Amino acid sequence: MTVHVTLFEVGPRDGLQNQGAWVPTETKIALIDALSAAGFASIEATSFVSPRWVPQMADAAQVMASIRRVPAVRYAALTPNLRGLEAALAAGCDEVAVFAAASEGFSHANLNCSIAESLDRFAPVMDLARAQGLPVRGYLSTVIACPFDGPTPPEAVRRWTERLLEIGCYEVSLGDTIGAGTTGTLEALFATLLQHVDPLALAGHFHDTSGRAADLIGLSLDHGLRCFDASVGGLGGCPYAPGAPGNIDTRRALDMIARRGFSHGIDMEALRKAEAIVAGLAAA
Ligand code: HMG
Ligand code: MG
Repeated sequence: MTVHVTLFEVGPRDGLQNQGAWVPTETKIALIDALSAAGFASIEATSFVSPRWVPQMADAAQVMASIRRVPAVRYAALTPNLRGLEAALAAGCDEVAVFAAASEGFSHANLNCSIAESLDRFAPVMDLARAQGLPVRGYLSTVIACPFDGPTPPEAVRRWTERLLEIGCYEVSLGDTIGAGTTGTLEALFATLLQHVDPLALAGHFHDTSGRAADLIGLSLDHGLRCFDASVGGLGGCPYAPGAPGNIDTRRALDMIARRGFSHGIDMEALRKAEAIVAGLAAA
């Protein structure tokens, strides 16, 4: 039997958040609807973050209210604090994500607090999500290197990954935020991390700066990871990580997964409609 690998589509959030020009709410909705039709099980639709920090996500509630919801799809959103979670609950998100960093420099740049403070801030988020029966995903950024602090020690990644799982995240997505990873540095990270953490509790979130993200997915598959984040059309980046390009293009990620003999269940033809919307943004 073919083993299934989950592609977590993050384009509407990680892809769009970094667009300088305002993307109309209707375009965001059309993109999410096109992705729903392509068969993704999880789509990260938006972020309930400060609009001062990420203006592109200011229409999160309108987006969630107007997408055509497909029952089989889980619509997720980022929630950095309790206020974000309350808004995500009001908007009917199926799951949320808290996000921390493995390096202090990026934590301060992205969340305006230390790593430990960010975890403290997540405690009430986890409590309310648990009470509401809402699954919470965890992100850990800068797992290979930080644009401010340089290379990240694997031990720091182990420590914060375990903390995110301990507070109740069902999975931790490992962010190579600036796409610095090589198969060598990722292998070194797994050598530490996988002694302590089940690979099925991890996801790979590889930005594709140097075109190595597909190789990192291949290596992660070899180590037992079965969930990867990708962004339709390779759109995006992080506004608080200078030089961060988009996540790996969804099509390239799916090609790698299929080449390795895993199933993913995505309708590659239907994906074209979402890709055309992204291409229209690039051309605009
Ligand atoms: P702060 O300035 O320290 O906190 O920001 P604050 O409490 O003073 O809030 C600032 C303003 O935002 C206030 O409004 C709050 O009311 C408001 P003002 O008084 O200035 O008018 N505010 C909110 N508004 C809406 N929704 C909220 C919310 N919270 C506060 N939830 C804060 C702290 C966490 C809010 C801020 O740092 C923030 O929003 N950061 C988010 C940054 C972000 O979204 N980055 C991109 C996503 S992470 C990423 O891309 C990496 C990832 O892809 C993985 C990887 O690649 O590594 C996940
Ligand atoms: Mg990212």
